[in-house]
Amino acid sequence: MKKKVVLTKNYLEPAIDRLKEQFQLVVAEETGKDLGAVLKEHPDTEALIGFLSDKIDRQLIGLVPNLKIIANYAVGYNNIDVACALEKGIYVTHTPDVLTEATADLTMALALAVCRRIVESDAFMRAGRFEGWGAKLMLGKELRGSTFGVVGLGRIGLATARRAAGFGMKVVYYSKTRKPEAEERFGFTYARFVDVVKQSDILSLHLPYSEDVHHLFNEDTFDLMKPDAVFINVARGGLMDEAYLAEKLEKGGLFGAGLDVYEFEPKVTERLLKLKNVVMAPHIGSATDETRLEMAMMTVRGVAAALTGGRPDHLVPEWRA
Ligand code: DGY
Repeated sequence: MKKKVVLTKNYLEPAIDRLKEQFQLVVAEETGKDLGAVLKEHPDTEALIGFLSDKIDRQLIGLVPNLKIIANYAVGYNNIDVACALEKGIYVTHTPDVLTEATADLTMALALAVCRRIVESDAFMRAGRFEGWGAKLMLGKELRGSTFGVVGLGRIGLATARRAAGFGMKVVYYSKTRKPEAEERFGFTYARFVDVVKQSDILSLHLPYSEDVHHLFNEDTFDLMKPDAVFINVARGGLMDEAYLAEKLEKGGLFGAGLDVYEFEPKVTERLLKLKNVVMAPHIGSATDETRLEMAMMTVRGVAAALTGGRPDHLVPEWRA
């Protein structure tokens, strides 16, 4: 009898096929029922593969007493009650490393799009408004020589910082742990959090979300930023007070913002939608064929290890501690 795996939503076919070969697979979204109802119907579920949009809390975990692993199809795992899983000895895995480069690329894409007003320019062209080269047409912000601030020099922060340095930007960073090796190797400068916020021409967030850093970017923090700075968030929406960011941008208190994540995802603060100096993406940091497939295969490998008595790779740090 094949062991039962619940996948909350469909993902890439090769991974689905692999799951079907080895396990009895239930795809929750195909049932038209919510995850709680699906787990109640399948209390013998031994593995749960979830997306970052699936809140996997104590109540859900309690519905499946044989659960051995929760495999998150994302590197961030603030959607999972890890403490509860740990208590019950349920493995929790995520997908680090593989999405680092794709997410760093998207960060730079947003930074470039905001600084060089790419989306605005595209709309301008499509509206048939281009009447010829203009000395002051769509003037933007130069990257070279400006300061790129990174908050959180983990894997993605580092990959982004290296790209920023490649564009000729000076990199300053704040991270819980100082990274002397990156300072020495790439010439990055460590500074206190407030100093990074104050000095940056482009400020990019790359830290995991937890209650402790909820609204790290609130009124006080945003007001420390240079009035012509660019704010980039590809990490988690809860790190910023989105309403205040909208207000600040409306008042011209920043040059612009590039966002891939939102405080009340998938909802977006209405006022942001009206602003030309905001470039928004629908949480696509890791969205390349290669990366998403590898992320999916990582979840499959983790499930296969856990359900055959092994210890999966890519356990979340709390599990490794
Ligand atoms: C993650 O994996 O946590 C990212 O936010 C996905 O883009």
